[in-house]
Amino acid sequence: MPLKIPPETINEIQSRVDIVEIISSYIPLKRAGRNFKANCPFHQEKTPSFIVSPDKQIFHCFGCGEGGNVIGFLMKYEKLQFKEAVEILAKRAGVVIPQLKEDNQEKSYISQLYQINEIACDFFQKMLNSPQAAKAVQYLKQRGIKDEIILKFKFGFAPLQQDSLLNYLKKKEFTLSLIEKSGLIVTKENGGYIDRFRNKLIIPIMDVKNRVIGFGARVLDDSLPKYINSPETPLYSKRNILFGFNLAKDAIRDADLAIIVEGYFDVVTPVQNGFLNIVASSGTSLTIEQIRLLRRYTHNVIVVFDADKAGELASLRSLELFLEEQVNVKIATLKENTDPDSFVRQFGIDRFQQIIKGSKEIFDYKLGILLAKYDINNPWEKSKVAGEMLLTIKKIKNEILKFEYIRRLSEVLNINQESLILELSKIKNFEAPESLSLENKKDIFSSLNNTEYMLLKLVLDDFDNLRKVREFLVPDELQDAVLKEIFRKIFELANQGIQVGPAELISYLDDEISSKVISRISSQQTLSYDENRKEQLLKDCLRRIKMNSILLACQDLQSRISSAQKEGNVQLMNELIAEFNSLIKKRGALYEKANSR
Ligand code: CTP
Ligand code: MN
Repeated sequence: MPLKIPPETINEIQSRVDIVEIISSYIPLKRAGRNFKANCPFHQEKTPSFIVSPDKQIFHCFGCGEGGNVIGFLMKYEKLQFKEAVEILAKRAGVVIPQLKEDNQEKSYISQLYQINEIACDFFQKMLNSPQAAKAVQYLKQRGIKDEIILKFKFGFAPLQQDSLLNYLKKKEFTLSLIEKSGLIVTKENGGYIDRFRNKLIIPIMDVKNRVIGFGARVLDDSLPKYINSPETPLYSKRNILFGFNLAKDAIRDADLAIIVEGYFDVVTPVQNGFLNIVASSGTSLTIEQIRLLRRYTHNVIVVFDADKAGELASLRSLELFLEEQVNVKIATLKENTDPDSFVRQFGIDRFQQIIKGSKEIFDYKLGILLAKYDINNPWEKSKVAGEMLLTIKKIKNEILKFEYIRRLSEVLNINQESLILELSKIKNFEAPESLSLENKKDIFSSLNNTEYMLLKLVLDDFDNLRKVREFLVPDELQDAVLKEIFRKIFELANQGIQVGPAELISYLDDEISSKVISRISSQQTLSYDENRKEQLLKDCLRRIKMNSILLACQDLQSRISSAQKEGNVQLMNELIAEFNSLIKKRGALYEKANSR
């Protein structure tokens, strides 16, 4: 959520209100040394672990991990949007929030991009009613799509003419560079622009809030490629979107189940038949972002594989992500040569419903594929099957489920459970890149990098320390994603000559995890040793982080050297080796310095 209110205004407001006063108007606070304490309003507890710091102007709960500044408190307590919370505080503080100008020139370019998409969507819809769209209308009819569904999905038609949309948007006084950013036009070989979508059926793609953010477009015949889509734009990013989610989300919540299919029409046809809790991955493997989007509405998912994907181990890999995210995933498969769209048209929605009912757990499904492929009378092949299954079991977070599956695997393969558990423990738990799930409140802190956390504490306790940090490190040298982001922001502000305390920093970052981390650091006891020790501690942290980053860079170089060697690229190899040696020297120097005191 980007800041729409100027940051100076937000800082001004925060500096005029007192977090202690605000929070104590909601819950009773008791003084405890420099701070105030209370029973946390965000989780059940009998002894207070909720701290409010008047010095730092932040709150933090050591029980549930909730934390932030005064704005964050209001947002959480009163369930407000950021802007609403700021407005309430502004009133209390007597600060006037500058009015944001509404005309086209001044609107942020993001909101203009939304506007362009909306206008384009209307344009395509109108075009579908024009005489030149006869072929598209005919096409939809032939696929059995009814008028109400055409309207519901806002289907449209992009004319054959090279620049009909471009001219339309120009008339609305959007700049060319902005139109280009929307992805709706492409450059011609000999310069100039033309419409990206021409002579195609248009399928708008919308976000959760029903805003048009991009388009899919289908040819009206058998030519290839069958579909083209909007490119990645500031609004449209394929990995974040599930087609049809805006229409399906209520049904998904009500049914506590989401059906995931592959194609646009695999959503459209079931919806036309009253089957509403269905979304499409649009032909790519599912991403963690899509899974997290779904998980806000349900923890139960059934993935329908087209017949051609059934029996492939590869297409199962992305489904294991669901297990890691603690979503219960099942798999349904269709008959040969069908996809949900053609299946429903051929056999009806009830048969489709039956297929869904007959979906299998990923465990059973995968085991089925493996047993068909390998002969478990052969010890090697049997251990291969066990190994594959253990990879899946390893991803299950629920310990009871995990052992239930181990028990079943041990029965099917006739291997004792102890051996399976032993093998399971040998599988390395590699960390997912997004290891900081918002829902694992406690894990946020336990998985933070200690040294880097300490460095942030030293900086937040005493901003003078930032100077030394900036002399020695760049944020990219940090390894912890959350702390790296926080340091990036601190550096960025420092470059603009802005120095902020924890409460303001939280507003600038505007991100829940960072806000919890910062509030926690700030409410922990200030380090209580003399200044000399503190200086040494800072040096140690910096050195350790630097050495670690060099070590990782070395490892990376090593693997690049060995692939250059394999390719026989001697020149590249020598360059990389030189780079490697200079890094090693640098590390050695740091190491000596650290030991010579
Ligand atoms: N897709 C795409 N670009 C392509 C091919 C496919 O974006 N060149 C996406 C579309 O979302 C498509 C989905 O992948 O709906 C599945 O592709 P496919 O099975 O090939 O097509 P269908 O959905 O069956 O297409 P249709 O029913 O319209 O023939
Ligand atoms: Mn199809």
